[in-house]
Amino acid sequence: MARGEILRKLFRSFSHNEREEFLAAAMELIEEEKSKNHTLLARDLEKLLHNGNGYTKRLAANLAPWNQFPELPKDKETGLSLLEVKQFDLTWDRIILSEKIFDVLQEIVLENRKQDILAAYSLRPKSKLLFCGPPGCGKTQTAKVLSSVLGLPLIYVNLTAVFSSYLGETATNLQKIFAYIEKGEWVVLFDEFDAIARDRNTQNEHGEVKRLVNSLLQLIDNSTNNGLFIAATNHEKLLDSAIWRRFDEVLFFDNPSVELRTALLGRYLSAIRYSGIDLSAFAARIENATGADIERICADATKAVILRGDRILTADDLEVAIGRYLDRQLIISNSTEFSTPSQNGESV
Ligand SMILES: Nc1ncnc2c1ncn2[C@@H]1O[C@H](COP(=O)(O)OP(=O)(O)OP(=O)(O)O)[C@@H](O)[C@H]1O
Ligand SMILES: [Mg+2]
Repeated sequence: MARGEILRKLFRSFSHNEREEFLAAAMELIEEEKSKNHTLLARDLEKLLHNGNGYTKRLAANLAPWNQFPELPKDKETGLSLLEVKQFDLTWDRIILSEKIFDVLQEIVLENRKQDILAAYSLRPKSKLLFCGPPGCGKTQTAKVLSSVLGLPLIYVNLTAVFSSYLGETATNLQKIFAYIEKGEWVVLFDEFDAIARDRNTQNEHGEVKRLVNSLLQLIDNSTNNGLFIAATNHEKLLDSAIWRRFDEVLFFDNPSVELRTALLGRYLSAIRYSGIDLSAFAARIENATGADIERICADATKAVILRGDRILTADDLEVAIGRYLDRQLIISNSTEFSTPSQNGESV
């Protein structure tokens, strides 16, 4: 691409807050400098871009200066922080999902990047998402990727901790969390969202817990934060039916299909060299494996190769790691067979 065009792309993406486009244009510029043998300049630019000393990590307009977050709110009873703030720098290739889910996520990112344009038509971007589905299938990872591509820090709220104290204190905790959220622009992840629903079945029956759920949803509705709110649960059946309609999108992160399992094997074996291994045949044998399971299988196989001083993975290495995974699954399924019916499907 001609230099003028690269510069236009660079400026346009910066002013539109389009982080990935900005990175792509910056990389093109660096490549161009390299091709002209301006090696020192290219290396400096690369460092600035990737070490976070440049603009790339501050693209989101009204962020507090990177790394300087307000003091975290704490639970009065336990003194523990009610939330964590984390920064990630992950790209889309760090999450492998069905095209259907991926398309919805792309749409959400686009709407949020272009919220100024939508506002001109009195429209708001989708900002309330419910992620459900079995453990280890990428709900938290997707929240991290979304926060990265939107260039916003991630606020992680574990509702189990927030709701473990007395009900009155829980309401205060929620207020504290939202007072914090109002101080910046973030992707907010409410993990273990079912903790509220689960509470309904315990001693905190009736109106009070329902009031808390409503007050949480109202706090989300009334928030002036322009970022995203994500609620995640792997016990979606426990959620009150009234909760579902309050979200702009409900996404189900299912166990990966054989195609996705093959892609996950490829993704998590990318650190090691191998050839002639039919990953799809292996993927077919691990039918119920989640993304987290596949990550572990690949880490086991890769470590075995490295620790014996080799550099190339063989089909046998993968065979051994998959064998271990299948043994482990057998233990888990035997143990759930003996558990009481009420525990089935609810164990994490
Ligand atoms: N679809 C996926 N693509 C890539 N990696 C994945 C995927 N699913 C899971 N992983 C890997 O497994 C790890 C655990 O996944 P994650 O924490 O996102 O699961 P989860 O759905 O949030 O589970 P839980 O319901 O237990 O919180 C991730 O950090 C990631 O490394
Ligand atoms: Mg999770």
